[in-house]
Amino acid sequence: MEELQKAIQEKGFVLSEGVLKVDRFLNHQIDTNLMMNIGKEFVSRFQDCKITKVLTIESSGIAPSFMAANQLDVPLIFARKKKSLTMTHDIYTSSVHSYTKQETNQITVSKNFLSPDDCVLIIDDFLAHGNAVLGLIDIVKQAGAAVAGIGIVIEKSFQDGRAKIENAGYRVESLARIQSLRDSKVTFLNEWNVKEVQQ
Ligand code: G4P
Repeated sequence: MEELQKAIQEKGFVLSEGVLKVDRFLNHQIDTNLMMNIGKEFVSRFQDCKITKVLTIESSGIAPSFMAANQLDVPLIFARKKKSLTMTHDIYTSSVHSYTKQETNQITVSKNFLSPDDCVLIIDDFLAHGNAVLGLIDIVKQAGAAVAGIGIVIEKSFQDGRAKIENAGYRVESLARIQSLRDSKVTFLNEWNVKEVQQ
């Protein structure tokens, strides 16, 4: 998605060979116009599916997912990383380990919001090692619902998340695919040009 690549190019910041900072438009300050277009792009990529719910994980997955769910006119559910005070029972849970943050969260979704009739589009902001998405898939399966596919805003293609999810049999649509963050540069996959991000 060209507009997203431009935002990454112009507003992103390469923190290290493994980490891209995008807090100017995606995961701290949010560019709502860009999020709206991201939502539309997800809808067009999954228009062949009869999606009934969008599922993400707090917190940075919520903004792009909200826009997609709004365009699809279906509810958005976000998995919680910390159990809510009011979620005492009847929950689906899955354990998600983050390599980037070196922490494990027990993610939870209320059983009230997913049922076997649902066809769920899973959306997240980053795809790195795939653990968050695999945890969300696990929750959809526990509910007996179907996974329509996985929508990712920024995929770090040099990490193994996509392979894990595809090997598990799911479709992944990423709006920006990053091949490398070496030398403080963002190189997009399948792009003829190398986009430089100012240090
Ligand atoms: P995985 O789910 O694909 O296995 O990824 P990983 O454990 O490595 O990532 C866990 C968290 O780190 C996620 O945020 C993810 O969005 C974030 N993350 C991973 N790589 C990058 C990166 O290059 N840049 C930025 N900015 N974030 C990255 P989270 O814990 O869910 O946090 P949040 O959603 O509450 O912000």
